[in-house]
Formats: sequence, C-alpha cells, structure tokens
Amino acid sequence: MESFLSFWCLSSLRWPEICLSLMIFFSIHHFISQRNKPTKPWPFLGMLPQLLGNVHRLYDWSTYMLKTYGGTSTFHGPSLTNMNFISTCDPRNTEYILKVNFDNFPKGDEFCSIFSDLMGNGIFNSDSESWKKQRRMANSLVHSKAFRGFMARTTQHIVRHQLVPVLSSLARSSSSFDMQDVLLRFTFDSTCTAIFGESVNSLSKELASVPFAKAMNDAMESIMYRYVVPKSWWHLLRLLNIGKERQLANALAVINNFVSQQLKMKMKIKGCSAGMDLLSAYASVSDDEDFLRDTAVNFLVAGRDTSGAALSWFFWLLSRNPDVEKKILEEQRMILAETQRGRFDIEDLSKMVYLHASICETLRLYPVVPMGQKGVVKEDVLPSGTVVKPGTIILYNIYAMGRMEWIWGKDCLEFKPERWVDDQGRLRYENSGFRFLAFNGGPRTCVGKDMALVQMKYAAAEILLNFEIDVVEGHHVSPKPSVIMTMKNGLMVKAKEKPKRCMVSK
Ligand code: HEM
Repeated sequence: MESFLSFWCLSSLRWPEICLSLMIFFSIHHFISQRNKPTKPWPFLGMLPQLLGNVHRLYDWSTYMLKTYGGTSTFHGPSLTNMNFISTCDPRNTEYILKVNFDNFPKGDEFCSIFSDLMGNGIFNSDSESWKKQRRMANSLVHSKAFRGFMARTTQHIVRHQLVPVLSSLARSSSSFDMQDVLLRFTFDSTCTAIFGESVNSLSKELASVPFAKAMNDAMESIMYRYVVPKSWWHLLRLLNIGKERQLANALAVINNFVSQQLKMKMKIKGCSAGMDLLSAYASVSDDEDFLRDTAVNFLVAGRDTSGAALSWFFWLLSRNPDVEKKILEEQRMILAETQRGRFDIEDLSKMVYLHASICETLRLYPVVPMGQKGVVKEDVLPSGTVVKPGTIILYNIYAMGRMEWIWGKDCLEFKPERWVDDQGRLRYENSGFRFLAFNGGPRTCVGKDMALVQMKYAAAEILLNFEIDVVEGHHVSPKPSVIMTMKNGLMVKAKEKPKRCMVSK
C-alpha cells in the first residue's frame, strides 16, 4: 500500500516538481546536519544561503571564513551560475596577483560588466592597453607640480572657509549632527574642485540635500547588489527596470546630468582659461566627450566617498581611543610652538608623523575600499598553493587582511598607530608591503593616494585644533555593505569649539 501510494505520488508529479522537492529535501537535510558548520556549501544552492544570511555583516563573515580556511577560501555559488570565486587575504597571494604576475590578473570582464553602467571605460574599469594609456595620463597629470599645488591650495581654502565655519555653526547650535555627512560633503566639494575647478558648495551651513550625493550612494548600493545575486538575476531586473536596477538607472540619470553640465561649462571656457583642475588638463589632450565623462565620474567616485568615509572612521576610532587623540594633540602643539602661526599650513603636514600613522591605522582596520577583484587569464598556482583557472574570479579581502593575527600580530584588532612609526620616529609606511592594501598595491596603486592624504590630514588637523568631537552616547556604528565602506547609520556627534589658540600657549 505504502509503495503504491509513493508510486502514485511520484507519477502524478512532473519532473520539475520532483527536482524542486528533492532540492528542498536535501537542503533541509543539509541545514539540519550542517548547522554547526556554517561554511559548508548547500546542495544546488552552494553557499548562497550563507552569503544572503550574512549580507548585513558581510565583512565580518568573510573575515571569519578566511580565518577558518587559513587565509584563502573558495566560495561555491549555486549550481549553473558563475558565482564561484576564490577569496584571499594572504599577502603572498596579493603580491603575486598585484605585482609579480600582474598581466595574468586583469580586473576581468565580470568586474567590468558589473561596473560599466557607472564607470564606463574609465581607468577603474579598464584593463590592458586602454588602462595603460589612461594610467600614464593620470600619473603625469595628477602628480604634476601644478596640479598638486592647486589641490593643496583649494583643500586649505575649503577647510578654512567652509568646513571649519560649518562645524562652528553646528557646535554653536549644541545639537547632534551626522559627522559622516559633513565629511562626505567636504570631500565632495574638495574633489569637485580638483576635478572641475570649482566647488559645488554642498558644505553650506544649511546642509541642504545634495541630489548628486544621494545618487552616488544609490548607485554604489545597487552595484553591491549585483555582487551578491546571480548575474542572470540582475540582468533580468535591468531588463524589466525594477528593484535595485531601477534605483541604479535613476541614480545614473542624476550623475550623468551633473557631469555633463560640468563638462559643458568646461568646454565653453576651453581655450579662454587654462584651469589647473584635472578636467582642464584632460580636455587639453582629448576632445572625446565620452572619455572625459568617464574620467570625471571615475575620479569623482574615487575621491568623494573614499576620503570622507576614511575620515569618519578616523574620528570614530579617536572617540574610542582618547590616548591616541592626546598624542596627536601633543604633536600638533609642538608644531604650532615651532611655527608660531596658530594654525596649520599645508607644508606643516609633513611633520605630522603620528597623525599620518593614525590615518594608516584607521585604514588598516577600516579600509574604505574593503575588497578588490581580479580575473585570471592563464592557469596559475598562487603562492598559497591554490590553483586558479582562466575565468576564475579572485577577491582579495583587504578588510580581513587587517584582522588576521598571523599578519599583524595578537593585537591586530587594536587601534595602535605606533605600529607605523619606527624607533627613530619615522613612518614605517612603505615597509608594510602587500599586507596593507588600503590604497591597493603594484602598478594599480591608487593614483590619488597623495592627494587623499593631504585632504585627510589637513581636515583632521584643523578639526582637532578647533573642536572637541564627542560621539553621541549609544550611537551604533557599523560598516555598510557597499563598494565603498561608509558607516551604516552615519556618525552622530556633538561638537564643542575649543578656545582659540589654547594649544600654542600650553
Ligand atoms: C582614503 C582615500 C582613498 C583610498 C583608500 C583609495 C583607495 C584606492 C584603491 C584600493 C584603489 C584600487 C581599486 C581597484 O583597483 O579596484 C584605488 C584606485 C584609484 N584611486 Fe584611490 N583611494 C582614495 C582616494 C582617491 C582620490 C582622492 C583619488 C583622486 C581623486 C583617487 C583616485 C584613484 C584612481 C584614479 C584609481 C584607479 C587606479 C588604477 O586603476 O590604475 N583615489 N584607490
């Protein structure tokens, strides 16, 4: 009777239903038998359930996975999808991928297809000859004496005449505010000035909403979504213009409109004024509007969120490590005593060794570009012994790298700027090799690293000189899963103005 019933049940089902039932049965069986081994792939679904279940704490989960597997692990996506990848935080592997055998590990088509709607064919999103050409151009323009001088002057101006006054007015209001929002506005204005030659003044006392900034956040979030779902799924959403893909399309409309307006203005005055901003420099060597659009967007994305987010993590870490803040203030006091100026100039930044170390330490624990991606051209063996085949995706996990005891020692989770300073009080910055990849490494090292350090150090120095920043009690800070790691709930603080020049007279 029983076998008759089961035969009847099976014969009345069609094959797709039988397959689905089997999948559900094996999945439930797997869930029950493997619930204490959360890294084991599920039948058919691979590790997608774990990924989706941990997406809100993606960085910590991926760190846990890498710790469990000794620094390199394989992620198995659902059957019949191309979601398999190798994840690593092993510095031997990153050195090999990013430098030793660089040509075998381009960003790859997968990466470029995820980012192309936003980044076009810009420097971030290109490989081979196109990248080499753009990189040569970027190196010579960004590192030119004229641009560096322009950058330094405008950063100093924006900090003194926009950032400090806005913070003063917020301090006088005695109410709490989102420091991350203020810092992102600062880096947005400062990056726009570097790229387009003029500020968009998002950092005004009213802190009015900036559609471009919202569009950028939406775009980044939608792109992150593309990472965690099968390709066919986001392609379908894009085709139907729904969900996160609709969000991306709307965001792109705002971003493209903003950039094309800026470009039009630039083209109008081209020839009349030789601006020192990046776009003027690029426009003097190219007329191709698509190329100029892509270049502007790539630099905007690179500059706006990264430095602003890094500064936010820096102030949060200081609030939890008052001893570090004290040491930075002591360094400032000595510089001011020496210069007798009562405020900082850009040239003082080179003397701020401990501040520099604190920013590196911030980026070690909270690298604002938390992961990098590479493809594979020819079969190869990574130094860890992992075999990689053409088409494999490699994710190098910069966030996890800063949290491995075997890389940074037992105190790896502590915020200790001292680890960046040698016995003679000099920065040990260059010696950290491929275990500190906040600015990437090898030929694709961040082009804007020096510019970002000037922006961050100058803003941090002036804020610490003028204000006491207290994080609101009970405010919960956690990283937002996105391409650039900002804080999910912002950074709610109260600011108090310090009595003028109190530090010099100490
Ligand atoms: C705290 C600030 C910053 C951090 C942590 C940072 C980090 C990075 C990282 C990790 C990469 C490699 C990304 C990849 O290959 O996928 C990168 C590339 C790049 N960054 Fe930055 N960046 C910062 C600020 C800036 C600024 C201010 C600019 C200029 C406006 C800039 C311009 C670029 C460019 C153009 C690239 C592409 C380089 C290439 O592919 O050859 N970055 N950056």
